[in-house]
Amino acid sequence: MRRGSVVQLVLIGALIGGAVTAAALLIPWLPPSASKERGGIDFVFWFTTGICITIFALVSAVIIYSIMHFRAGPDDDSDGLPIHGHTGLEIVWTAVPVVLVTAISVASAAVLHRNDHVPKRHLTVEVMGQQFAWSFKYDDEGGLSTGMLRLPVNEAVLLKITALDVIHSFWVPEFGQKLDALPGSVNNLVITPNKIGRYPVICTELCGLGHALMRTSAIVMSKGGYEAWVRAQRRALNGPKTGAGKAVFANQGCNSCHTLKAAAATAKVGPDLDKLPAEAKRAGKPLEQFVRESIIDPNAYIEPGYHPNVMPEVYKQLPKDQLDGLVQFLVQSSKGS
Ligand code: CUA
Repeated sequence: MRRGSVVQLVLIGALIGGAVTAAALLIPWLPPSASKERGGIDFVFWFTTGICITIFALVSAVIIYSIMHFRAGPDDDSDGLPIHGHTGLEIVWTAVPVVLVTAISVASAAVLHRNDHVPKRHLTVEVMGQQFAWSFKYDDEGGLSTGMLRLPVNEAVLLKITALDVIHSFWVPEFGQKLDALPGSVNNLVITPNKIGRYPVICTELCGLGHALMRTSAIVMSKGGYEAWVRAQRRALNGPKTGAGKAVFANQGCNSCHTLKAAAATAKVGPDLDKLPAEAKRAGKPLEQFVRESIIDPNAYIEPGYHPNVMPEVYKQLPKDQLDGLVQFLVQSSKGS
C-alpha cells in the first residue's frame, strides 16, 4: 500500500471517529448519576461505546476509501478479481472480536460483583411491585410502609424486590440498575445514593394495562432530613387516628390519583374523595364500611365514569392501625367538606 493511501485511510477514520465521539460525548444520552454503583455501570457503558466507535471508524474508513478508489467505471462490465480469502486477515478479524468481547465480559462481571456487595452497615427496604403500584416497607423503622421510596444520602440500602401478581421491573435511571420483581422470589439490589434529589421509579416490564402509570418517586434526603422524616412518620402513626391517616394518605401516594381538600390533593385519575358520602350512598353502604371496602377491594364498587382494575390492590397489606387511621381520616375529612 502506498504511503499516501495509508494517510488517506487514517484521515477518513479519524474524521469519522471524531464526529461519532463528539456525538457520544456532547449529547447527554444518560440521565445524571445519583448513586455510587452508577459509576461502575457508566464505566462499562463508555468502555463498550469506545470499542464500538473505534470499530465503526475503522470499518467506515475502509468502506469510504474503497468507494473512492475502487469504483467501477460507468462502462466497466468486466468481472472482478478472483479473490479466495486471506488466512491472515481471517485470523485477525476472529481474534480481535474475541479479545474485545472477553474484555467487555470481564469488565461487566467485575462491576456487577462489586455492585452486589452488601456493606455491613446498610438500610433494608422491602420493595413490592403490584399492578400498578410500588410499595416500600422499612423493617428497620418499625415496619413503616410508604408508596414513595425515601432514602438517606450516602448510605447503602439493600432493596429486597418482589412482586405480588405478575413480573414487574424496578428501575431508577439515575441509580443505574434495573432488577426484575418476581412473584414468589426476592431479588436483592444494593444502592448507595450519593446525590440529594427526587428521581423517578419506573416499572420497565410490560405488566398490564396500567404499566405506563406504574411510577413513583425515589427521594434522596440528607441523613438528618431522613431521620426527621422517620420520626415524624412514627409520631403521626402513633398519634390520633385521623392525623395518622393523613400521614398514610401522603405516604401511600393517594394524592397522585385522588382529590381531597383536607390533604390539598387535586388529582383526577380516581373518584373525588371529598364526595365519598354521596358515593357511599350510590353504593348503598354505610360510609365507613364503604371507605374501608374501597381501599381493600377497589373493584367491589366502581363509581360511574371510572374503570375497574385501575386502583392498585396493594393497600390491603397496610398494617391494621395504618388502615384504620386512613379510613378514619377519609371519613372525617369527607364529612367535613
Ligand atoms: Cu409493573 Cu410494568
